[in-house]
Amino acid sequence: MNEYDSERIQDMLRPLGYEAVNSPENANLVVLNTCHIREKATEKVYSELGRLKKLKTNSAEPMTIAVAGCVAQAEGGEIMRRQPAVDLVLGPQSYHKLPEMIAKVSRSMGDRLETDFDTLEKFDALPKTRNASSATAFLSVQEGCDKFCTFCVVPYTRGAENSRSVNDIVFEARSLAAQGVREITLLGQNVNAYHGKEIGKDDEWTLGRLIRHLARIGGIDRIRYSTSHPRDMDDDLIVAHGDCYSMMPFLHLPVQSGSNKILKTMNRGHTRERYQEIIEKVRTARSDTAIASDFIVGFPGETDDDFEDTMNLVRDIEYAIAYSFKYSARPGTPAAELPRQVPLDVQNERLQKLQTLLREQQAKFNASKIGEIVPVLVTGRGRQVGQVHGRSPYQQAVHFEAPESLIGKIVEVKIEAASLNALAGNLEIQREKAA
Ligand code: 5AD
Ligand code: SF4
Repeated sequence: MNEYDSERIQDMLRPLGYEAVNSPENANLVVLNTCHIREKATEKVYSELGRLKKLKTNSAEPMTIAVAGCVAQAEGGEIMRRQPAVDLVLGPQSYHKLPEMIAKVSRSMGDRLETDFDTLEKFDALPKTRNASSATAFLSVQEGCDKFCTFCVVPYTRGAENSRSVNDIVFEARSLAAQGVREITLLGQNVNAYHGKEIGKDDEWTLGRLIRHLARIGGIDRIRYSTSHPRDMDDDLIVAHGDCYSMMPFLHLPVQSGSNKILKTMNRGHTRERYQEIIEKVRTARSDTAIASDFIVGFPGETDDDFEDTMNLVRDIEYAIAYSFKYSARPGTPAAELPRQVPLDVQNERLQKLQTLLREQQAKFNASKIGEIVPVLVTGRGRQVGQVHGRSPYQQAVHFEAPESLIGKIVEVKIEAASLNALAGNLEIQREKAA
């Protein structure tokens, strides 16, 4: 989501004459887009700001420093107190106000802190046309979250769930397709809670309906969505995994824990059994769907048995890829107040065990593609001359030899080798193939 937001900030600043550069040295404007999800990410903001302050002092040009994103939302005042070199602070729902704020700063007047929560105002104010630079693009359809998992800051930093109108999304998707985008990833903190409407109409669309509709736009051959919640996995969306040709066989469905007791304390609103049932249904709809998840280990009150439940669930599901974290107590969230916080050494040990298992599964999943011919969307030039890289339907990186003229096309590649993070193969036929 932050990557998408940063792209949109660029789209907004371009008409004002700003252009992205590769390094902050001598930049006129530095926007630090921040993440508050875990303590480590938040700490990085202050060290990064210390570095930027030095650059600002030594810069030949005047430099404006803006801090955007969820840390700005959660502790904007503190950022300004701790680092006076910061000129502007703006939360994730306020970045459309950046041009106005920059103008005010240059005249030394007006507010330097914007942390309003009006998501729809933001979407309305953003430029409608996107600037696409690659064959893949993110498209935000929903923001915010009302689920209030007890460990998570998102409902406080991104605000309540909010869906964009169908019209806006279709317009943005068409604009991307016209610029050669072939694959879009629909984004939202709770993307499958999508409930947007067509302007002037009353019925709410589900994500499944939206995906089927977007699949009809010429040029959009691949559709993904991220991140979804088990509670919002309705049957129509599950069926779309099987019958919508553009839907990619990949599902990122975070479970966080395999223990029903912990899921309850987390306020996830589903059981381990319900999660297993959803995965089974998705695999029935399309058997080769790659399953991904997020996990938190060492949540308050997690015993060895609870952790074993998570390990067993992982063994049962067999993930293609997963992201796992030590629980990080976040200020203002209910879980931070819970008794029986798990000691760091136990968290470390559990994380290591879980990650060893997940890595084994990831390597096994990648190796399972050896010998298969897979359609690969070519996304760019490879590190070596004559090489390109692309993306498989299962979200894997694929490296192979092919002319650069194939960038932006979908080609068939016979997979010859696999590592933990990528596949390698040979171009099968040079004829372009859909999806
Ligand atoms: N501690 C550790 N991990 C967290 N996540 C969210 N909040 C926390 C926290 N307080 C993880 C969850 C979520 C992912 C985006 O970040 O696994 O799915
Ligand atoms: Fe956070 Fe996701 Fe839970 Fe919402 S559903 S509170 S974003 S973990």
